[in-house]
Amino acid sequence: MPFDFKWKEEYSMHVQEIDQQHKKMIGMISDLFDSINKKDTKEKLGGILDELIKYAGYHFATEEKYFVLFNYENTEEHINEHHKFTAKVLDLQKKYLNHEIEISFELIDFLEDWLLYHLLESDKKYIKCFTEHGLK
Ligand SMILES: [Fe+2]
Ligand SMILES: [Fe+2]
Repeated sequence: MPFDFKWKEEYSMHVQEIDQQHKKMIGMISDLFDSINKKDTKEKLGGILDELIKYAGYHFATEEKYFVLFNYENTEEHINEHHKFTAKVLDLQKKYLNHEIEISFELIDFLEDWLLYHLLESDKKYIKCFTEHGLK
């Protein structure tokens, strides 16, 4: 199964710091895919998942810092999406560590779909606010 989740110009928020973070997250999902294909150990897979969760937390905190700073109108709704995602992946991680589920292509599909939807539907909405406040 080829993996073609790559950052594209249409995902740009026109803010360098944010684009870098999104690229990194897409890269981590791609690493997870490669790791399954290579049949890496559970430790290695679990490590990448853990890094991804931590990095997502760091990224969400970056966006949320600007929401507060700029008094962004969709703050509550947007933070709610971040929270829901975090709860879901932490639950998946717990199930993984308890040997209830595997890190699978389905899990990667979920991560990819969520991120893509979030970038194009939710993150896009703050571009105007962020750039009007001078971010680039
Ligand atoms: Fe976001
Ligand atoms: Fe984002």
